[in-house]
Amino acid sequence: MSTNLIGLDKAGAADLAEQLNGLLANYQLLYMNVRGFHWNVQGANFFELHAKFEEIYDQLLIKVDEIAERTLTLGHQPLHGFSDYLKRSQIQEVKGVRDGHVAIESILGAYTVLLSQQRQILAQAAELGDEGTVSLMSDYISQQEKESWMLAAYQGRGA
Ligand SMILES: [Fe+2]
Repeated sequence: MSTNLIGLDKAGAADLAEQLNGLLANYQLLYMNVRGFHWNVQGANFFELHAKFEEIYDQLLIKVDEIAERTLTLGHQPLHGFSDYLKRSQIQEVKGVRDGHVAIESILGAYTVLLSQQRQILAQAAELGDEGTVSLMSDYISQQEKESWMLAAYQGRGA
């Protein structure tokens, strides 16, 4: 078995890096969508939603960097062109949203995509013995699961 710099099977690390690039593409699309919600939201809840969306996209940007740097740590190059992100992303561009509830539904839908993708990556990383990626995915999953509950509660349809 041929191993990379951090002792993981090379072929397995390449597969995982490929999956992480797909995840990165989704995060980049969602990041830009949430910036749009921050800019364009209107109405009585403007001040709280404007601030909340900023908090969300700041967190997304931290994850963008962590995912890209994990890919490099595995020995591969992260995607860094928007044309690549658009090709690889399952999350679609969302434009011109003024209504806060529509924006939050869009974020909830994106989290469903991310959660499922991250659970898959976690399982694949566990099989490879890649604890670093397992731990990253595990943190993202628990954070977004809790945030999904809170966003759904805001929509008036929490548990
Ligand atoms: Fe701003």
